[in-house]
Amino acid sequence: MDRIIIRGGKRLEGRVPISGAKNAALTLLPCAILTDQPLTLSNLPRLADVDGFGHLMNGLGISTSIAGAKRKGVVGRAMTLKAETIVSTTAPYDMVRKMRASILVLGPLLAREGEATVSLPGGCAIGNRPIDLHLKALEALGADIEMTAGYVRATAPGGRLSGGRIVFPIVSVGATENALMAAALARGESVIENAAREPEIADLCRCLVAMGAEIEGIGTERLIVQGKDSLHGADYRVMPDRIEAGSYACAAGITGGDLLLEGANADDMGAILSGLSEAGLQVTHEAGGIRVKADGPLRPLSLSTAPYPGFPTDMQAQFMAMLALANGTSVLTETIFENRYMHVPELARMGADIQVHGRTAIVKGVEKLTGAPVMATDLRASMSLILAGLAAEGTTEVLRVYHLDRGYERLEEKLSAVGADIERDGEG
Ligand code: EPZ
Repeated sequence: MDRIIIRGGKRLEGRVPISGAKNAALTLLPCAILTDQPLTLSNLPRLADVDGFGHLMNGLGISTSIAGAKRKGVVGRAMTLKAETIVSTTAPYDMVRKMRASILVLGPLLAREGEATVSLPGGCAIGNRPIDLHLKALEALGADIEMTAGYVRATAPGGRLSGGRIVFPIVSVGATENALMAAALARGESVIENAAREPEIADLCRCLVAMGAEIEGIGTERLIVQGKDSLHGADYRVMPDRIEAGSYACAAGITGGDLLLEGANADDMGAILSGLSEAGLQVTHEAGGIRVKADGPLRPLSLSTAPYPGFPTDMQAQFMAMLALANGTSVLTETIFENRYMHVPELARMGADIQVHGRTAIVKGVEKLTGAPVMATDLRASMSLILAGLAAEGTTEVLRVYHLDRGYERLEEKLSAVGADIERDGEG
């Protein structure tokens, strides 16, 4: 297994090209199921999860072709998907267990074919990740749902879903995405209340509209969808990745650096940018993106994760690494997932002083971190270890970097280009 080796202590300075958003790409890809015409997605990040999703789509009978050569320094690529005919409506366990976002084919398959059989995703490192809200949403659109042998089997009476009213008791990004894609082809009007408002949801809505869908209230918690008999193809550009941008902003903070996050969209990053400013970083909006510059010692924060527009749970681990070196004590509260502190014991091995009490982590700033061999456990935890390694004295080896490859395109290349001493070694 690969490992990443970092010799820390280098101040990062320069431009980091921000890739297309992983969490937008993973809900835009299944949109191709909703039409028999080609859907071309550009600015797709080169990530293991995007490749994995492409293979899942191939298994359903959807052709995928990549355009755009892999050139150093150039991020992203275009993929054209065509679901002329669906040859299978089953997403098998061995695909879904590796990538729980596979559950996002459930709504589109049900909408297009009137049936879908998708393996239950199971849990992951950060929590048990149920899908009850996805299933209730589809039932509100008329679907019959049964569970057999670890699979969800959904059918639409008469082969087509009917518009309905979906009221989410808690905000769920994935369930909102499945509901939107299903409602787009349902008969009649659907209303989705307490919908997730993450920018990736708005990106999905804009792509569906480009395909001929009719959606009101984009960006709000109340979405009204007029179902169509069919959708057509489109060319759509994936939004920039706000979490990747926020992660590299933390790299500037933790190394006392100065980075331009090329292509980042400040409109998607309100809570992240406020957190960075509160921690003492200079954040300025420039023509090419967002500039984040360290400006004196890091200041401690009190942060609580929340659904958008609150502080994103996907940024909690990265902020924790940065705040491990702040002048004072920070308090982080994780309200979304029940086990998203797997990075704490690894950061502690590098000298961080962090106490976890239930959902709350108390981070006492220390003078320095020391490089050590550490273990990645999930995607964002892995990034927090990379960040700590960039600032630590000595050498850090991050093992199990396949977690990182799921969400950060060309990480070593982007960090080396701004002065990090970082390399990947296949011996891990
Ligand atoms: C999406 O996951 C993201 N993944 C996650 O990013 C992100 O952390 C999460 O949204 C929250 O913003 C993708 O977009 C591929 P949820 P999702 O449904 O849709 C509970 C990363 O690092 N819940 O909004 O699975 C759930 O357990 C990943 O990029 C139910 O109870 O998240 C959680 O506590 C990690 N029942 C809360 O809701 C359900 O049916 C929010 O989950 C669904 C969710």
